[in-house]
Parts: sequence; C-alpha cells; structure tokens
Amino acid sequence: MNTAALDVPILTRAFIGGEWRTAPRAFTVRTPIDGSTIAEVASCGPDEARAAADAAVAAFDGWRRATAYERAAVLRRWFELMLRDEAPIARLMALEMGKPVAESRGEVRYAAGFVEWYAEEAKRVYGETIPSQFAHKRLLAIRQPVGPAFGITPWNFPAAMVTRKAAPALAAGCTFILKPAEQSPLTALYLAKLWEQAGGPAGVFQVLPALDPAPLARVLIDDPRIRKLTFTGSTEVGRLLYGQASGTLKRVSLELGGHAPFLVFDDADLERAVRESIACKFRNAGQTCVCTNRIYVQQSVLDEFAGRFARAAGELRVGNPLDEATQIGPLVDEQGLRKVEAHVADALARGATATLGGRPRDGRYFEPTVLLDVRPGMRILEEETFGPVAPLLAFRREEDAVAMANDTPYGLAAYLWTRDLGRAFRVAEALEYGIVGVNDGVPSTAQAPFGGVKRSGLGREGGHWGIDEYLDVKYVSLALP
Ligand code: SIN
Repeated sequence: MNTAALDVPILTRAFIGGEWRTAPRAFTVRTPIDGSTIAEVASCGPDEARAAADAAVAAFDGWRRATAYERAAVLRRWFELMLRDEAPIARLMALEMGKPVAESRGEVRYAAGFVEWYAEEAKRVYGETIPSQFAHKRLLAIRQPVGPAFGITPWNFPAAMVTRKAAPALAAGCTFILKPAEQSPLTALYLAKLWEQAGGPAGVFQVLPALDPAPLARVLIDDPRIRKLTFTGSTEVGRLLYGQASGTLKRVSLELGGHAPFLVFDDADLERAVRESIACKFRNAGQTCVCTNRIYVQQSVLDEFAGRFARAAGELRVGNPLDEATQIGPLVDEQGLRKVEAHVADALARGATATLGGRPRDGRYFEPTVLLDVRPGMRILEEETFGPVAPLLAFRREEDAVAMANDTPYGLAAYLWTRDLGRAFRVAEALEYGIVGVNDGVPSTAQAPFGGVKRSGLGREGGHWGIDEYLDVKYVSLALP
C-alpha cells in the first residue's frame, strides 16, 4: 500500500527522555487492510525501559512541583493539537488497526475529551481538614501524585486508551511511561509528537513500542521507583501483571475482558433498541471490551426484534476502513479472525442458525453475523468473541434475564432496554457489572467512571475516579506551638 499518498504521520522511533531514539531491534507494523508493511518501528527492550525509568524518575520532581495550572495548560495545548490533527490521526488509526475512518475520527474526539477533562480536573485535586479533639492540633488530608507510572494499552482504541490513562496521571503530577500495543504503536507515537509540540517537558510522557512487551514490562514492574501500573487487555495477561506488581506493591488498575449482556424487555422501544444494539455490537467490528456479546430478548418480542436486527445488521457496509462510507473494517489480525471463525463454527456445529452472515470474506473481513438457537455451553456464550457476531437468545421473566446476564465470571458492561422506570432501577442494581447502559448502547464518556468487577478488573478510569487512581492521600497532623 502506498502510505505516502495517504498523508498519515508515520514516526518509527521510541520517545524516551524527550528524544526520538532508535533501538537495536525493529519490528514491522502491517495494515490489516491487505497485510502490507506500513513501517519498521523501534522495538524497545530492557535497556530502553531502564533509560525511560531513569528519565521518568528524574522528571517527576519538576512535574509534581509545577502548579496544577501549569500542568493544565500543557494538557490543554495537547488537547487542542489532537483536535487540530483529527483527520490525519483518524487515517493513521484506520490504516494501522482497521477502524473505519469515520469512527476513528470519533475516537480522536473521545481521546481528546479525556485530555480536556483532566486538564480541568488537575485544578480540583482538593484536600480536607478534619476536626481534632485537641485544641492545639490541626489535621489535614492532602492528595499527592503516586509517582512515575507505567501503562500498557491495547490496539482497539489506539488513541483513547492512551489518553484515558495518561491524561489523569499527568494531571495528577505523575510522569507516565507508555507501552502501546504492537499492532498500533503509530498512533501513540504521534500523540507523543503532539505532546512535544504542546511543550510537555522531557521525561514526563514517554512512549516505548515493543514487539515483545514482556522483557520491557518486567524491568518497569520490578523497578520500585515506578509506583503505579495500569493495564487494559485480556484477563489472562492482567492476572499475570497483577502478580508481578505485587513484588514492589505497586498501585494497580486493570481494565480487562468483558462479556456484555444486552437485555431487551417486551415494553422496550424496539426501534431504538435495535439501533443502539447495532451500535453496541458492531462498533469497531465488535472489537471493544464493552461490545455486547449476547443479546437476550423477551420471548414475546424475539421474532420481531430478531427480524429488525438482522435487517439492520445486513445493511452495514463492510469494506476498506479508509473509505468514508465503511462501517465495518477488517479484524485486527489473523488470530482475531480465527477466534471469530471458531466461535461461529462451534455455535453452528452445536445447533445454532445463522440468519445473517456467518462467513469470512477475503482478507481479514468477517460478515456481520446474527445467530439464533444459541444455547448454554457454546463458546460464544462463555468467551469474549471480539468480532461482528451477535447471538440472540430468549428469556421469559425478568429474574431469568438477570440470572442469565450475571452467569459469567466477567463484569464490565451490561445493557437493558425498557420503558418501565421501576424495572430500569431494579435490573440496573441487580446486574453485577461496573457499567450499565439503560436504554443506552454506548455509555462511555470522559467524565464518567469506566471499569469492571469480578474478572473484568480493578479500579476506574474516567471522571474524578480516574485521577484518584494516580493520587495518594497524605495525612498531616499539625500541632500549634
Ligand atoms: C474498551 O474497549 O476497553 C474501551 C471501550 C470504550 O471506551 O467505550
């Protein structure tokens, strides 16, 4: 593919200590559009990790002492530069991981939204005074940055997962080392370029791409000077990192896998429920942690819902993510495609029916797929598919729907569709999930808490909860003379 003609900003060096550095090794970044090479990118290892840790520690003192207003000003400029470059960043994302370009522009705004929000929140890191039982004492609780932080981000949101972690850390006064996903390092490197242009000090935000993240991550996780680990990715890797981080007792936040249920009750506005379930299921070709993986519809409206849903899914335009009209791009890699194929094959072999799709297309594309006659025990009801496949199931009573929705080790996002206010509260409160969309298929936003329970993770990103993850509380007891 001729990337020069696409006007996308391609940076291939790591950003360490304010300098753009090569590494002894490099790795190839390919586009999922046709598998062709986009760039050879520096592949960082233990030496680069040690250099980044030293730079993050050296920069920490100056950054934490900068006033909240000074930190906010840098973040604000970073936000403005992201908006200025919305179009090229979106093309870059579409190219490196296949998100349709129109949707990618939405992600750039979403990503910039975290930076804007935390630029403002930096000024609201308030403390407290506590009444003392002694007349001569004053008790204070102040909040201070935890220290240099290390973040590992996934490929499915190459910009927004970076800013959802880095912006609150930087606002709090932490320095931040980022290891972006090996499938999509180019967006992260471009964000580092914009950070530099925004006047971000050297060593405060660093980006270390790596093909094999383990040796680099081990150095940073074992380094006691790095005080915080934040990770978005699979539950398996999250568990491993959690164990490793216990060695230095780091603060840890983990945003892990999901298996989101979408409940449609018979009193729902079906037209809107269909529209929003399509958005929820098929955005990013089904490759988000909060995409629904199982749609439960009350028996009396199942046929009508299923018919409308399949018609709407059938109208989605599958194609080259760089085309403006495309709604579903390719899956990110062969492994992702194989998993989707395996889930569909398993369901069909055990008696499910595909009323739409069910097959891969040329390259890494998979047709939007709707499955009926889905039953417990099928892989698709137990594992995260991360693809454009929607299994539809029936339920009879509200309590059955809640029980089926909660019957999973995951607890990230759930959705319910009803016009009954009492039911909306009852079911939202009964769902064992960190996020519940009531008549809302896309609830994520910068100012609200995002995160899961059970095997979906620890901690929250977004809103004032997101900055708390990067702050320690210090108690100051002051005795007057
Ligand atoms: C994710 O897939 O983890 C992020 C989804 C979102 O922010 O909506």
